[in-house]
Amino acid sequence: MKVIVAENYEEMSRKAFEVMAEVVKNNPRAVLGLATGSTPIGLYKNMIEDHEKNGTSYREIKTVNLDEYAGLDYSSDQSYVYFMRHNLFDHIDIDLKNTNIENGKAADRAAECARYNALLDELPRDIQVLGIGSNGHIAFNEPGTPFGSVTHIVDLTESTIKDNSRMFASIDEVPRQAFTMGLKNIMQSKKILILANGANKAKAVYGLVKGEVTENVPASILQLHPDCTLVCDKAAASLL
Ligand code: GLP
Repeated sequence: MKVIVAENYEEMSRKAFEVMAEVVKNNPRAVLGLATGSTPIGLYKNMIEDHEKNGTSYREIKTVNLDEYAGLDYSSDQSYVYFMRHNLFDHIDIDLKNTNIENGKAADRAAECARYNALLDELPRDIQVLGIGSNGHIAFNEPGTPFGSVTHIVDLTESTIKDNSRMFASIDEVPRQAFTMGLKNIMQSKKILILANGANKAKAVYGLVKGEVTENVPASILQLHPDCTLVCDKAAASLL
């Protein structure tokens, strides 16, 4: 795994953008795997700025997102569809028809997981952006998720519900379940770009880079990926 340690969040976001920009420049029809959470917002800001200043086009780009809360759809401003539109899609020239995310409101959840897995098979990703949870989760693959997992419904752990409650009016409003791409789906991306900032991610980053490869730390599977880059700030790298 390539590890890039940046001074701060701004530098982490710029360096992550450099990795992303190369993929988009080399292939204007690339498939981008995207992530939500506060960590990649700076990367998305850099992409928007570059689009505005340099005219980088996303017209032929396709995207697939990692996960979505079960029970929320795009009309909810806590949904990940809303997040992606607000933080990226509404500010670049991407065709929304080319963007994909699980349907949080699907009545038949098993059928929705099957639909998404079939879609991922049709759209091999050129790059997958990831954040990391403080317990080492990636997407919503919580500790104990099998490495062979594909898109599934997950019961969120108390620690993830607590971490993510800062985005909601109260902890009671955080959905208890989510759809998530599985670890096997994530590993199928040609390139992985994982980002982490802040001291509360230091333990998870240690597990990602130097810990035992174990299903108890889902991010540790990335040690087995042939082209994975971690870009993190000094605080998140403090235990390496
Ligand atoms: C959520 C998302 C993850 C994300 C994690 C960390 O659980 N499902 O994809 O990596 O939060 O979020 P943040 O970047 O806000 O710390």
